[in-house]
Amino acid sequence: MAAAEPIYGVLLSDSMDLKSYYSLDFGDAAPDVRLLKPEEVTNPDLIRFAVCWLPGPAAFSPYLNIEMAMSVGAGVDDLLKHPGLGKDVAICRVRDPNQAHLMAGYAVHEVVHVERGFAQMQQNQARAEWAPPAIRPPRDLKVAVLGHGSMGACVVQALAASGFSVSVACRRDPSDPVEGVQYFTGNDSVLLSVAGQDVVINVLPLTTETEDVLNTDLFSKMARGGWLIQIGRGEHLVEDDLVAALDSGQLAGATLDVFRTEPLPSDHPFWTDPRLRITPHIASDTTPHIVAEQALQSARELHAGKPLSLAVSRGQGY
Ligand code: GLV
Repeated sequence: MAAAEPIYGVLLSDSMDLKSYYSLDFGDAAPDVRLLKPEEVTNPDLIRFAVCWLPGPAAFSPYLNIEMAMSVGAGVDDLLKHPGLGKDVAICRVRDPNQAHLMAGYAVHEVVHVERGFAQMQQNQARAEWAPPAIRPPRDLKVAVLGHGSMGACVVQALAASGFSVSVACRRDPSDPVEGVQYFTGNDSVLLSVAGQDVVINVLPLTTETEDVLNTDLFSKMARGGWLIQIGRGEHLVEDDLVAALDSGQLAGATLDVFRTEPLPSDHPFWTDPRLRITPHIASDTTPHIVAEQALQSARELHAGKPLSLAVSRGQGY
């Protein structure tokens, strides 16, 4: 009996070699799915899906029969706003529990680093100075988490397990609330959740509703001398508003992992601002073998005409 025709996909990224980084050459292990680099495609009309990370503006134009575009990351903002993707193209994302744990570890690390005065102790060490900082109970530190998807929920659990007082802005009431955590839903949930909080951690998806959400209005609701941990997307933050909040003392500092322009340009003033802790978009990443498994799963679902279990809602934007 002749083998069924495989389904063909293309790898689209302006910045990465997706095939080697994520081991997306399935070979004989999955003869039903063929994922090609653009230069390997001989008949663009056969391509029915794309696996992407930051595809260029014209990346999709040779492929007129694309039905599904999948991000190798959790964020799909670059696909949702891509001018080359029609509204009828389904958009999928990777859902990786490891990525949520990485995010939670980063968030707890930053909260503890700031709260326990590690930066000062490092300076003290250089002077051989034994100067224990004051310690307050974790429950006295009030932390707001913006966003309660798979990442936000994991961040909330980790913070609550460390004893911090946590409030959360979420779209709907959680099915598995953590005891002691205060959840806010509805249109005002972001501003209500940050009111009086010492630390705000942003893990919102980027949508038209959440763009510029980290602004003067939000900072002014926080406790004076607060700290921002920005691990969403660069476009969530109004950079001038952050600088103004730091200058006025409303914020003592911020940890920034994501930026409007990445890599952060070497002449950007953020690099030299001692009130900022900067990391190069490493708060979390997807696990290569999970990306490969989920790309295969999505291709097979598409091939079989089944519902795409990793599809995002275009309406919600995630
Ligand atoms: C990282 O930023 C991701 O979207 O997975």
